[in-house]
Amino acid sequence: PDPIRLGIAGLGTVGRGVVRIVQRHGATLAARAGRPVEIVAVSARSRDKDRGVDLSAYGWEDDPVALARRPDIDLFVELMGGADGPAKDATEAALEAGHDVVTANKALLAIHGQALAETAERAGAAIRFEAAVAGGIPVVKALTEGLAGNEVTRILGVMNGTCNYILTRMENAGLTYDEAFAEADGLGYLEADPELDVGGIDAAHKLALLSAIAFGTRVDFPNVRLEGIGSVSIDDIRHAADMGYRIKLLGVARMTGRGLEQRMTPCLVPASSPLGQLEGGTNMVVLEGDSVGQIVLRGAGAGEGPTASAVMADVMDLARGIRLPVFGQPATGLRAARAAVAAVP
Ligand code: NAP
Ligand code: HSE
Repeated sequence: PDPIRLGIAGLGTVGRGVVRIVQRHGATLAARAGRPVEIVAVSARSRDKDRGVDLSAYGWEDDPVALARRPDIDLFVELMGGADGPAKDATEAALEAGHDVVTANKALLAIHGQALAETAERAGAAIRFEAAVAGGIPVVKALTEGLAGNEVTRILGVMNGTCNYILTRMENAGLTYDEAFAEADGLGYLEADPELDVGGIDAAHKLALLSAIAFGTRVDFPNVRLEGIGSVSIDDIRHAADMGYRIKLLGVARMTGRGLEQRMTPCLVPASSPLGQLEGGTNMVVLEGDSVGQIVLRGAGAGEGPTASAVMADVMDLARGIRLPVFGQPATGLRAARAAVAAVP
């Protein structure tokens, strides 16, 4: 059988992890996909950087758009980050060339997801983003496939590993905000612009993507009611603990009679609850459906291995010929969301 040929743009925390999985598990991936999974070429800003993985067998492109257009790839893997710039340009170029795309980039999809989904449908290409939401947790698959027979009633959860790491390390280890932040950085959790993490924006991107799938609406990031963890002090954390609570950056989305409600804000949760017991970079997503009731998904929300694991889940689906629409239904069928809660300025 023909191999599925990958071009990978971005060789940082996540890209390096994907290369490691393909190199380490090549035979297993081929057996599971029914065809070899091969990396053809890669791209990053610096060709000379030592990334701790052997890239000598692959072609190199300085320009990710050139990589995206290469006729010798089937699948473009976008792991650079950023809502605009090279990530958007290269993703569009890949789709227009008829190549499928796998991305971990929630900012790109939260802002441009509708347009990219329409481009993909016009070109007969697929775009997938399991790694963009809750790291290693297969939550996109759970919603698009596992809950496909349900009317989803509510989504809630902790969806940013950096914030949960900082909040729990400040509480448990007595670290200052800066010390906990530096540890999260060392673990590869942070976005290139960490304000996206601590400002709650990254988590709000994720919530908006899940809402689109769950409620059949266009991605409506601007109307997520949003507040980050910057205003949470160590005194707040201690007072909450004294009362038996912990502070979590909690996302909630539900369809109400007044429209779609989406919130990502610091909340008190009982310390003894599953959400209250969430430590470090762990994420938890709770999905509620009219037939299934409540299901709880918990796992590493960030970092090299967990995120690369989710990228590979999409790569393997596409290698196997599983080509679901990116938001679980054709993009042209998604309704405009009517916001129940006005965005906080
Ligand atoms: P990262 O460590 O900062 O790596 C980014 C990579 O992109 C680097 O290799 C960089 O090249 C390359 N790059 C940046 N601009 C480029 C350009 N103009 N042309 C070519 N290459 C360029 O980022 P990351 O943590 O791996 O995250 C990548 C994506 O995954 C982001 O969308 C992020 O939101 C998402 N994500 C990350 C995690 C996580 O835990 N880290 C989890 C889920 C999703 P150089 O190395 O040469 O600078
Ligand atoms: N910066 C993100 C986080 C990476 O901390 O959760 C995973 O999306």
